[in-house]
Amino acid sequence: MGLTTLLFVVLIGTSTTSGGMCCAGKDDCLARNFGHGSVVCECNASHCDSVGSVKLPPVGQFLSFLSSKAGSRLVRGQGTVLQNSTGAALRLTIVPYQKYQRIKGFGGAMTDAAAINILSLSGGTQDQLLRQYFAPEGIAYSVVRVPMASCDFSTRLYTYADSAGDYSLTNFTLSAEDTEMKIPLIQKAQAMSPQPLSLLASAWSAPAWMKTSGALIGKGTLKGHPGGKEYKTWAHYYVRFLEEYRKFNLSFWAVTTGNEPSAGQMTNYSFQALGFTPETQRDWVIMDLGPALHASPFADTRVIILDDNRLLLPHWAKVVLSDVRAARYIHGIGVHWYLNKLVPAELSLGTTHHVFPEYFLFGTEACAGWSPLDRGVKLGSWERAEDYAHDIIEDLNHYVTGWTDWNLALDLGGGPNWVKNFVDSPIIVDEKKDVFYKQPTFYSLAHFSKFLLEGSLRVGVSSSKASALESSAFIRPDGAVVLVILNRSEEHIPFEIWYPEVGFIPMDAAARSILTVVWATQ
Ligand SMILES: *[C@@H]1O[C@H](CO)[C@@H](O)[C@H](O)[C@H]1NC(C)=O
Ligand SMILES: *[C@@H]1O[C@H](CO)[C@@H](O)[C@H](O)[C@H]1NC(C)=O
Ligand SMILES: *[C@@H]1O[C@H](CO)[C@@H](O)[C@H](O)[C@H]1NC(C)=O
Ligand SMILES: *[C@@H]1O[C@H](CO)[C@@H](O)[C@H](O)[C@H]1NC(C)=O
Ligand SMILES: *[C@@H]1O[C@H](CO)[C@@H](O)[C@H](O)[C@H]1NC(C)=O
Ligand SMILES: *[C@@H]1O[C@H](CO)[C@@H](O)[C@H](O)[C@H]1NC(C)=O
Repeated sequence: MGLTTLLFVVLIGTSTTSGGMCCAGKDDCLARNFGHGSVVCECNASHCDSVGSVKLPPVGQFLSFLSSKAGSRLVRGQGTVLQNSTGAALRLTIVPYQKYQRIKGFGGAMTDAAAINILSLSGGTQDQLLRQYFAPEGIAYSVVRVPMASCDFSTRLYTYADSAGDYSLTNFTLSAEDTEMKIPLIQKAQAMSPQPLSLLASAWSAPAWMKTSGALIGKGTLKGHPGGKEYKTWAHYYVRFLEEYRKFNLSFWAVTTGNEPSAGQMTNYSFQALGFTPETQRDWVIMDLGPALHASPFADTRVIILDDNRLLLPHWAKVVLSDVRAARYIHGIGVHWYLNKLVPAELSLGTTHHVFPEYFLFGTEACAGWSPLDRGVKLGSWERAEDYAHDIIEDLNHYVTGWTDWNLALDLGGGPNWVKNFVDSPIIVDEKKDVFYKQPTFYSLAHFSKFLLEGSLRVGVSSSKASALESSAFIRPDGAVVLVILNRSEEHIPFEIWYPEVGFIPMDAAARSILTVVWATQ
């Protein structure tokens, strides 16, 4: 980092009444500009900006929260709902009788790397970081994805059953990464969270001795065939994992059938993977995983198939879910966002939903900075915040019920990652300064996670004319309406929101901004 990028420190007032830039209060963003287009907010043990808990004003008033490339971060506004139209050329009308899916939740992954980074901070700063995601004043994360044993975001290669030939899994043991790092942090997050966290487990690779390759990495599948001893042992491994975590009072909402099964079919794949075709995944569920979970104390654990890129849909889902012997054990379909540009949402997510409406779609992984053309951490990139919001809105508008980010925290280099597959994260930790930076992507996720409570129902939005605004609307269980709007465009058009029965809300989505508008209806 050169001197030129060090540093404009700007304090951005979040008060909508003062208007000026004065006096950083306890809730204000300590903005730092690293020269990537926008700012990050710096936090330490005693100071961090916070949106606080959001109490809705009475019917007839609305709240708005704005984040922008110019530097606003969840800046709160409040106003009165009008009885008459403002005459704006663009009107977004909420259509409550068009009802779609219900929201499960939003979150991120407690990888080994995330845990290492969080624990590299002082105790007070660790707590501050966890509060940002999980506490009532934070952004209401309710989903935590937990890798089962090592993945690329680990510092070594391991599984929980590395003694060769241990088909009965007598030597199954959690790693120190689990018992000393991830579990204590998840327990702290759970203690801070006002709601039970929904834990989601994904495995990258089976033990090497169960695999055709004899290795955790590269192309390889389980030896033998579904119903055979390796496939049975691999299903038993899931039950053992759930048993071990239960000893720490952590129970899982869901398990996936394995992270990115297509990776394990690729020659020389550089990190942990386990190959399945849709056919072998289907048959493993029928003969091994389904019966093993069903017969265990974890029969209520949701089973999510795919856990891989949406370009594999609808084919993957058709192969697995068309067989009722597999389908009866399955609840949902997990998608990753990589390569989304290659396949339109309607063709993949939309088609899958229309063929199998009773299975939920769920975003299980996404991150910025993964592409070789745009690699690693970029402190303050607004484009990446837009990429998140665009993808979340597109997913939500195609029946997806939640969205899980990748690593909850990474270091300044986007790691650690044993295979140097460095990427970006919404929270970047600077261990030396004992601070962390909340990236624009943190706020982008917050525009959804903070406001779309579990059980929120997506409803229709109709636009009076074509516009560049992207949006998605919801009615929450408490009756409040939430509209999230992304403006990536360069055109200037003020607009209004119409909610029949309540009235008109005049709005102006600032340049390059994300806006959440919320109002009570009862
Ligand atoms: C934390 O940050 C605040 C705001 O910049 C600063 O006033 C305070 O001294 C910092 N605390 C520590 C322990 O560095
Ligand atoms: C709303 O429109 C009606 C009909 O045009 C008009 O009579 C009324 O005065 C308007 N109300 C306000 C508050 O402007
Ligand atoms: C379990 O581990 C111990 C110690 O490494 C080893 O002696 C034993 O053979 C292992 N058991 C199995 C079933 O692999
Ligand atoms: C286990 O977790 C539940 C729900 O999170 C909590 O109510 C209970 O107190 C916990 N029990 C222990 C022993 O920590
Ligand atoms: C895979 O790795 C081997 C050994 O390093 C190499 O010989 C081979 O060319 C690689 N194959 C591909 C398709 O990259
Ligand atoms: C969207 O952003 C552009 C600039 O990028 C701005 O001119 C325009 O006013 C914004 N759109 C709306 C609807 O406010």
